[in-house]
Amino acid sequence: MSTNDAKGGSLLAISDLHVGYPANREIVADLRPTSDQDWLIVAGDVGEHVADVTWALGLLRERFARVVWTPGNHELWTPRDDPVQLRGEQRYQHLVGLCRDLGVVTPEDPYPVWTGPGGPVVVAPLFLLYDYSFRPAGTSKQESLAWAHRSGVVCTDEFLLHPDPYPDADSWCAARVRRTARRLDAVDPALPTVLVNHFPMTREPTEVLRYPQFAQWCGTTRTADWHRRYRARAVVYGHLHIPRTTWADDVPFVEVSLGYPREREMYGRHGDHLRVVLPAEENA
Ligand SMILES: [Fe+2]
Ligand SMILES: [Fe+2]
Repeated sequence: MSTNDAKGGSLLAISDLHVGYPANREIVADLRPTSDQDWLIVAGDVGEHVADVTWALGLLRERFARVVWTPGNHELWTPRDDPVQLRGEQRYQHLVGLCRDLGVVTPEDPYPVWTGPGGPVVVAPLFLLYDYSFRPAGTSKQESLAWAHRSGVVCTDEFLLHPDPYPDADSWCAARVRRTARRLDAVDPALPTVLVNHFPMTREPTEVLRYPQFAQWCGTTRTADWHRRYRARAVVYGHLHIPRTTWADDVPFVEVSLGYPREREMYGRHGDHLRVVLPAEENA
């Protein structure tokens, strides 16, 4: 499945490029591999407009030996000023088709096998969404959403991410989780994996959110054990805009977001924006 048979290169990752911001667009325009064998994982939130997403992924595909993409919530928005007014599943499938035209691997394609340093490892881009289950214990989804609305901390997804044809994001998430579990169950059990999802796959990384109300838009409890179940060598995610590595069961969970310009200024995040996932010793 893999075309990378050479003994070199790195498996790199980034997310949350948000190229609608000119400063982020400049950073993306400057992203380059360190070797012609490097692969790049792009873990969602490239942008909101389809043309922005294809610009960024097309440019990166020209530079990296392989680009692996999974959508974030922002790609799934239907902004009023985007000429592409597709919603929900149709928008996702449209993006998948454009990625295939570009030669970018999507969650709908066979999972490629990284055979460079640290391999062989199955690189699995997952599109799982969220289902509001990262909410306070003992509260219902309705109560949790009401708490968010009262406090004014409501994810823009509620207005711009349309889950069509599903009645709500939680139903879409449930369908994605079922389908994705079947795919991962079929992976060669002799191979470890790198699981790539825009949203954190366990709840723990959301515990440091400045606004805990936001956690309900950040993942699903259904994937809490997937790093063990599917032999993860690493879990790569974004969405929180809190780049760091945390560990659970000896598995690194690597948040790889570039984030917004104001966040980089506020937290002094400058320098190398690409994170090394494999070989493993460099992501500690
Ligand atoms: Fe983001
Ligand atoms: Fe996001």
